[in-house]
Amino acid sequence: MSKFVINGGKKLNGEIEVRGAKNAALKAFAAALLTAEPVTIKNAPEVEDVSRMAELIKSLGPTVKHVRRGEYRIVADKINISKLDPEIAKKLRASIVLTAPILARTGKVIFPHPGGCVIGERPIDVFIDGFKSLGAKVVQKDGFYTITAKTLKGAKMIFHNVSVTGTETMIMAGALAKGMTILKNCACEPEIESLAEFLNSCGASIEGAGTYTVTINGTTSLRGGEYKTIPDRIEAGSFAMLAAASGSNIRINNCQPNHLDSLIGLLNKMGVRVKIYPDSIEVVASRRMGAVGVKTREYPGFPTDLQAPLSVLLTQAEGQALVHETIYEGRLAWTEELKRMGANILNLDPHRIEIRGPTKLRGREIESPDLRAGMAYVIAALCAEGQSTINNVYQIDRGYEKIEERLKKIGADIRRV
Ligand code: EPZ
Repeated sequence: MSKFVINGGKKLNGEIEVRGAKNAALKAFAAALLTAEPVTIKNAPEVEDVSRMAELIKSLGPTVKHVRRGEYRIVADKINISKLDPEIAKKLRASIVLTAPILARTGKVIFPHPGGCVIGERPIDVFIDGFKSLGAKVVQKDGFYTITAKTLKGAKMIFHNVSVTGTETMIMAGALAKGMTILKNCACEPEIESLAEFLNSCGASIEGAGTYTVTINGTTSLRGGEYKTIPDRIEAGSFAMLAAASGSNIRINNCQPNHLDSLIGLLNKMGVRVKIYPDSIEVVASRRMGAVGVKTREYPGFPTDLQAPLSVLLTQAEGQALVHETIYEGRLAWTEELKRMGANILNLDPHRIEIRGPTKLRGREIESPDLRAGMAYVIAALCAEGQSTINNVYQIDRGYEKIEERLKKIGADIRRV
């Protein structure tokens, strides 16, 4: 198992590239199964979760060719198997989005309960209720769900919880359902809009993606096509926090600044200057930063996936701030290690912490519990005095492509051993 050894406390400087969004590419891989024709996915990040998704799709029958870095060609002319490999599916929560294309194409899908994970419960009732609304039959037995439907029938549904993958899954199901599907209380993340644009380019008729109400006029088949993965707003945001926390000047290239509005607004409020260009942003080193509290929210609010990097940044800001994680109940546990690095954090309850800064951080040996907390530890280690070792780098590799190589280019002292 690899680890990162980081010598912190250095100012960083220069330009860093953002890769394609993992959480957009994974959905495009699933969408490729809605059509029997070839689909090419470009600008996919070369990360563990994408490799697992490719493996999972291959185990169902379609071919997946890794053409070159960031480019995959999927041909789902046949889907022979309707059951998701439980070993992979349990590790990859995003595998849940495959349920819609498999069901729509084969009339059946069998999958394990994805289970909880370190960040919280992660139920799937939204998916089960959604498939039932579209006329499917659901049987749950021995830890597996079997969902069957000869044809999916368009329906109106309102999500009782705003869910990103729930919205994406029902958009895909609706695309091949008979008649009209109306989804209300949808998630509005840019990755959802991007998925719908791609499906429309393949002949689907989807309106309103990126808003609370999405309307889908179902069709019997879709064409193949080409999908270009949008830039990863979480990766861009993590780099921006790193720049601000370490007092560095960093230009973050290849990003979509309008996907970062809540983050840029927050940084500005803290006193950090961010220059905005058409497809890049530059964080300007600032000597003093004021603490600003935040509540994580669905897009366009402040993303839960940036809560951990933000918390590291707040340890370097002056004053007291409340971080309220509203989406997941287990996503603050990682702060225990940050406290051992010297952060002054009070855990109020599973959803809220209070951070007082600024505090000096000291290097430590840390275990990466999940990908976002892992990235936050990398940021903390780069800001800390002395050496840190981050174990279980697999978690970071799940979502960030060769992060150490890109960080080295801006002057970070980080190596993989
Ligand atoms: C997506 O997860 C992302 N994953 C997550 O990123 C991200 O943290 C999350 O959206 C929120 O932005 C992918 O896109 C693959 P949700 P998702 O369903 O869709 C509750 C990362 O680090 N809920 O929007 O699984 C749920 O418990 C990952 O890249 C139900 O109650 O999240 C949570 O409180 C981690 N019932 C809330 O909704 C359901 O059936 C939002 O979860 C489904 C969800």
